[in-house]
Amino acid sequence: YQRLDDFPADFLWGASTSAYQVEGAWDEDGKSPSIVDMLDHPEETADFKVASDHYHRFREDVELFAELGLKAYRFSVAWTRVLPNGTGEVNAAGLAFYRQLIDELQRHGIEPVVTLYHFDLPYVLEQQGGWSNRATIDAFVEYAAVLFDAFGDRVKYWLTINEQNTMILHPGAIGMPKGGELPSKQVLYQQSHHMLVAQARVMALCHQRCPAGKIGPAINTTSMYQETCHPLDAIAAHNWETLRCWSFLDVAVHGRYNALAWRYLQDRGLAPQMEPGDAALLLQGKPDYVAINYYSTATIAASRGDASDISARAGDQQIMLGEPGVYRAAENPFVGKTRYGWVIDPVGLRLTLRKTYERYHLPILITENGIGAPDELQADGTINDDYRIEFMRRHVEQMQLAINDGVELMGYCPWAAIDVVSTHQGYAKRYGFIYVNRGEQDLKDLRRIKKRSFDWYQRLIATHGRQR
Ligand code: BG6
Repeated sequence: YQRLDDFPADFLWGASTSAYQVEGAWDEDGKSPSIVDMLDHPEETADFKVASDHYHRFREDVELFAELGLKAYRFSVAWTRVLPNGTGEVNAAGLAFYRQLIDELQRHGIEPVVTLYHFDLPYVLEQQGGWSNRATIDAFVEYAAVLFDAFGDRVKYWLTINEQNTMILHPGAIGMPKGGELPSKQVLYQQSHHMLVAQARVMALCHQRCPAGKIGPAINTTSMYQETCHPLDAIAAHNWETLRCWSFLDVAVHGRYNALAWRYLQDRGLAPQMEPGDAALLLQGKPDYVAINYYSTATIAASRGDASDISARAGDQQIMLGEPGVYRAAENPFVGKTRYGWVIDPVGLRLTLRKTYERYHLPILITENGIGAPDELQADGTINDDYRIEFMRRHVEQMQLAINDGVELMGYCPWAAIDVVSTHQGYAKRYGFIYVNRGEQDLKDLRRIKKRSFDWYQRLIATHGRQR
């Protein structure tokens, strides 16, 4: 028997999107291209040009979010709308769009949760070296300052950088640069250092400019199981959990590199160059909460120390890489998988919440969680995504158990409020509570249709998590 505590009264029942995956209008009203607009795109898959056309339909979308009962909506601002040159002149039309969106949300009593940066660096900055160039740190701080000054009086919850760990550890998971190659690990860790410094400065700036504001990092966070009780499997699982998750969050929260991760970098000649003053800058960043994107767990075995450690899977399957001498990916017979090979593990969410809270003692906001599926529109006009309901019901139950365990959980913003373009599978892989009627290339009428999960989530929110 488990006693279940109620969700806190001010729990942020929400949902998420990101600018480039939902907005469309990729070159309208002064917006410049971002690096994601310039990615190599498979011809048969939807690109980001129109996406879900939220830029033109945000009022209708917010109406639907209100009907859903959302208390919070997490979205990202496109840097390229606000500062088309990356720095310098502010594009009034870009700011106006977000002002209207925030107005509309607040009119409906929905709390905006704003991500500053979700994979979409201005391409113009990329051409000047992107995150390899220290000047991008200043550019990011300048961009954040524009948003804090424009919206700091109305936006309470800010997020710095979405999934820095995905950008650094699995850059190919976001997309491949046109005809280009992915940067080397050394370059990526230098970029990562610059992002960490930029993040720390922006968190400090947020506290200066928005006294009521709260800000935190948003890392794809998970737990690793060891394949067996062999001690070396335990070491390998700890290695990878540290390198993949804690090494990023530790710098964000404690303002210093994780010792194990720093040794790993040094031993491989990957330690980033730090300028004098960087250590002090990192210490300036003091998050108010930690945001986590949680989809699945991984199971890890000891490395065999050879190339067989690298077990990439092809096609639609999730690519899970091992690293000789560090860890090796293994299978978990106790969990299910999505059709894309992503492990389904609700209990893993409870474990991840416990570990994150125990480590940082900060409130936690779940900023992503969900299941991607093709979601087909039936002849009778319905979309029966019972698998999504089942997935979320089981995760919500584990959230409640985690609260029961003592975790300070602020809210749940699953991915996604509405269908968005997936990073790789376009509209063939959907996540929303609201269906967007379009195909990969055929835009159809882009009509919004409530899925069955919409009704379920609406009831869940209305009963404050009781009626699952
Ligand atoms: C997260 C990203 O990693 O996963 C989102 O923050 C992304 O941008 C989501 O869409 C789901 O991934 P995918 O590849 O199925 O779209």
